[in-house]
Amino acid sequence: MTRSSNVVWHKSTIKKENRHQLNGHKSAIIWFTGLSGSGKSTISVALESALYAKGIRTYRLDGDNVRHGLNRDLGFSPEDRNENIRRIGEVAKLMVDAGLFTLTAFISPYREDRDQVRRLVKDHEFVEVYQKATIATCEARDPKGLYKKARLGEIKNFTGIDAPYEEPINPNIVIDADRLSVEESVEQILSYLEKKGYI
Ligand code: ADX
Repeated sequence: MTRSSNVVWHKSTIKKENRHQLNGHKSAIIWFTGLSGSGKSTISVALESALYAKGIRTYRLDGDNVRHGLNRDLGFSPEDRNENIRRIGEVAKLMVDAGLFTLTAFISPYREDRDQVRRLVKDHEFVEVYQKATIATCEARDPKGLYKKARLGEIKNFTGIDAPYEEPINPNIVIDADRLSVEESVEQILSYLEKKGYI
C-alpha cells in the first residue's frame, strides 16, 4: 500500500559503491532471528564488537530498543509484527546504502516477513542468522522473566508459548544456541563472513 503520489526519487552523486570504497569494506544486513532468549541480542552485540575491532563500520537495531522509539506504536499481533519488521527492513536497507554492516536482533517469527526484507536488498546483502534454541533452553534462561509471565497468562501472544515461530527454511547460518558459547557463535559468523568475502 502506498499513500504517496507525485514523489520522484532524487539521486545522490555519492553512491553505495563510493562509501564501500571509502570504508574499505562492503555492507550488508546480518539478520538474527529466533525465539526470545535465544541470544540474538547477546550474539549481535558481541559480533558488533568483533567487527569494530577489525575496523568495520556497523550499526545494531534491536527489538526491545526500537520498540521504545520508532515502533512504539506497535504491539505483538501478527499485523503489528509485520509492520515492525517492514519498518526495520526499510531502515536496515538505508543503512546498507549508507555503507554499514547492519546487525538486527528481532524475533521476526514469520517467514514471509523475513523474506519481505530479503527482497528489499540484493541477495548477498541479506545474511540470515538463525539462533536455534529450544523453548526449554530459552525458558530456563528467561532473562527478562517473560516466559514465566506468559505461562501465567499475564502476557498474551508470546512467541513459542501461544504465538508461532516459523523456523527459517534455508538460513545462511544456523547457530546451535543450546550448546555454543558466545565466543564460538561469533567465531562461526565471522568465519562465514570471511569465507564469503564480506570482510
Ligand atoms: S517481533 O516478533 O516483532 O520480531 P521483537 O523482536 O520486535 O518481536 O520484540 C520482541 C521482544 O519484545 C522480546 O524479546 C520481549 O522482550 C518483548 N515482548 C513483549 N511481549 C512479547 C510477546 N507477546 N511476544 C514476544 N516478545 C514479546
